[in-house]
Amino acid sequence: MRVALRAAIAQDHARVRMRDATMSESPKTFDTGVRRVDLDPEHPLPLETPWGSFALFAVGAETFAVQSFCPHLEGPLFQGSVSGECVTCPWHGWRFSLRTGRRLDFAELFSFERDTLLVLEVRMSERGTIVLCDPGRRPSSHLDDVERI
Ligand code: FES
Repeated sequence: MRVALRAAIAQDHARVRMRDATMSESPKTFDTGVRRVDLDPEHPLPLETPWGSFALFAVGAETFAVQSFCPHLEGPLFQGSVSGECVTCPWHGWRFSLRTGRRLDFAELFSFERDTLLVLEVRMSERGTIVLCDPGRRPSSHLDDVERI
C-alpha cells in the first residue's frame, strides 16, 4: 500500500513538472478544433490544452471554458450539474459561476483565488472553431497545499 502511495505521488510530481514546463512554453491561443454546434449543452466537453485540462460549456448562445477539475479536491466539474451559468461540483457541491469563476455558495466566506475557477477567454476562428486564450496562470486546487514527500 505504501509503495502504491509513493508511486502515485511520484506520478503526481511528474505531472506537475510537465504542466509547469508546458506553461513556460505555452502559446497565447489554442484552437480546440471543436465547433460550437458540436457542443452538447447537457454534457460539457473536457479537453487538454497547453495550460491543462479545461471544459467547454454551451449555455444558451454562449460558450464558457473553465478548468475541468474543481479547485477544492479536483472533482470533475465537467460531470457536475449545470443550471444557467452555474456549475455544481459532483463531489462536495461547491457551486461556481461559469462566467466569472467565482464560488457562489458561501461566497462571502471563500474569496480566495484558489476557490475560484480559472476561466478562459473564448473566441471563434475564421473556420468556426472555438479558440481559447492563454489564462496567464495554471489552475490551482487545495491539493497544491498537500505536503509533498
Ligand atoms: S472536489 Fe469539488 S467541491 Fe470538493
